Amino acid sequence: MCGIVGEVGNDNAVELLIHGLKKLEYRGYDSAGIYVNDEKGNDYLIKTKGRIAELEKKITDDVHGKIGIAHTRWATHGIPSAANAHPHVSEDGRFYMVHNGVITNFKELKNEYLSDVHFESETDSEVVVQLVGKFASEGLSALEAFKKAISLLGEGASYALLMIDRENPETLYVAKKKSPLLIGVCDGFNVVCSDAMAMLNVTHDFIELHDGEIVELTENQIKIQDKDGNPVERKPFHVSQDASASEKGAYEHFMLKEIDEQPAVMRKLVQEYVNENGKVEIDEKLIKTIEESDRIYVVAAGTSYHAGLVGHELIEKFAGIPTEVHVASEFAYNRPLLSKKPFFIFLTQSGETADSRQVLNQVNELGYPSLTITNVPNSTLSREATFTLLLYAGPEIAVASTKAYTAQIAVEALLAKAIGDDLGFEDSKAFDIRQELSTVANGMQTLVDEKEKIEALAQKYLAKAHNAFYIGRAIDYDTAIEAALKLKEVSYIQTEGFAAGELKHGTIALIEEGTPVISIITDQTIAAHTRSNEEEVVARGANLISIVSEKLATKKDQIVLPTVHPLLTSLVAIIPAQLLAYYASEQRGYDVDKPRNLAKSVTVE
Ligand code: G6P
Repeated sequence: MCGIVGEVGNDNAVELLIHGLKKLEYRGYDSAGIYVNDEKGNDYLIKTKGRIAELEKKITDDVHGKIGIAHTRWATHGIPSAANAHPHVSEDGRFYMVHNGVITNFKELKNEYLSDVHFESETDSEVVVQLVGKFASEGLSALEAFKKAISLLGEGASYALLMIDRENPETLYVAKKKSPLLIGVCDGFNVVCSDAMAMLNVTHDFIELHDGEIVELTENQIKIQDKDGNPVERKPFHVSQDASASEKGAYEHFMLKEIDEQPAVMRKLVQEYVNENGKVEIDEKLIKTIEESDRIYVVAAGTSYHAGLVGHELIEKFAGIPTEVHVASEFAYNRPLLSKKPFFIFLTQSGETADSRQVLNQVNELGYPSLTITNVPNSTLSREATFTLLLYAGPEIAVASTKAYTAQIAVEALLAKAIGDDLGFEDSKAFDIRQELSTVANGMQTLVDEKEKIEALAQKYLAKAHNAFYIGRAIDYDTAIEAALKLKEVSYIQTEGFAAGELKHGTIALIEEGTPVISIITDQTIAAHTRSNEEEVVARGANLISIVSEKLATKKDQIVLPTVHPLLTSLVAIIPAQLLAYYASEQRGYDVDKPRNLAKSVTVE
């Protein structure tokens, strides 16, 4: 979702900003733009629909600057077009601005303050820069006009804003509420970005901004004030991540690289969380707080929600605490009756998802304890929850989530084990998690090594398919809905993940000659039932692909899964499903890493 970068004080503004935008490409976008100013009276505004490569083509050799802002836009208000791309400009040409977020009351503001102003775009964002222009023309300083415009934005508004005043191009004005934004501290210049990854080539020291704060940034000063105008002193935090962790290397796509990294992520998690004696080491305060609760509510979106469904089985089995899993966007506005002592777990790869954050805000207002399980240290949900556990999966760049899903399940297993052991439960003690996750890592490796076979299956059954089904029961059903999401989001084949036994109650009407049906079978107790469901679809002409655990497999099954713990089967069963999705997308000629209409980090509700 929209990515923002800004810089002040470096003579190579264009290079720095374009590099930053490229690093933010993974978030998903449909247009891009840049504004630079050389502080000597020359400035340039360039915008385009489409990819950053298109923007680069429009940047001629004479374009240069010492201060600049740039943006990738993911359309919400107004179609993807050059006119709707940011930066937006005030009518008098004085102020340039980029915005990430949503201005909920933009129509009201337009009517009340700007009825005589000509708008260039259909966006909600443009209203902010036009307000600044108007207030400055009435005599306010740039900072005062910026603050006044922000004070008028509705309660529900979210924003990360960067602004340059053409008449004083030595200061970058910055504001933030809900949408992510970091200041990067450099030697002789300063930068701003939505995600540290964009600027790791120039700094590893970042200052987080809190909601409502405003910053005046120059090449050697970072002046932060809170929403009441009081100065704020905040030390930078250090991001240790290597800039090369977000490079594709020899891979054609990030998605394939990230699928391949999963065995290593499992091993890394064992290293991070399990000590030499096999004991899971997690903050004792967190464990005790969860033990004091009477019910766990797992809240998440998209793939993370699916990881929550699997985690639910693990937590109830090993920690013995009743657990519910909820879609964040539903929970926020249709809250179920809560138990007396609830504990909340937020699963979020990015740590920035607005739907999940909305729930966390409510949970904080109600005063309940919470844990964020995320891949991004210092992300918003990590900072705002009571506790954080990290996924240690390394940057996930492809929009379709793969390694974060399996890392989330593994961390849930580690957490469940830590609680179960602390409570002295026999099932938990018997669960040798170090051994089990190592077995999973090896199993994953076997499957990623079978790429060619899976590529051929995708070619045969999916390359030309219009719709498809994944079916499974119990934990295989949890895997099936994540597998279906993977396939539909990158290959655009309409795919449903279905409870195998439920298919016959209506949906089987959609099965016709050649419809691909992929069944997942890992649970011995219900294998026979799913086998009958396979027969039902084959009898109606379906092309069946079976993904089956070693011990239950027959000669006919195309994909055989190495044996792992019965509650960790999702970790291996998802691998062929991810690969099928990857190859189907590639064979159909789509942009695997950046599927249409999708964003990696969805910072609007
Ligand atoms: C977006 C992404 C999904 C992701 C979901 C939740 O929709 O495209 O891949 O699962 O957000 O993201 P989170 O960062 O909270 O896990």
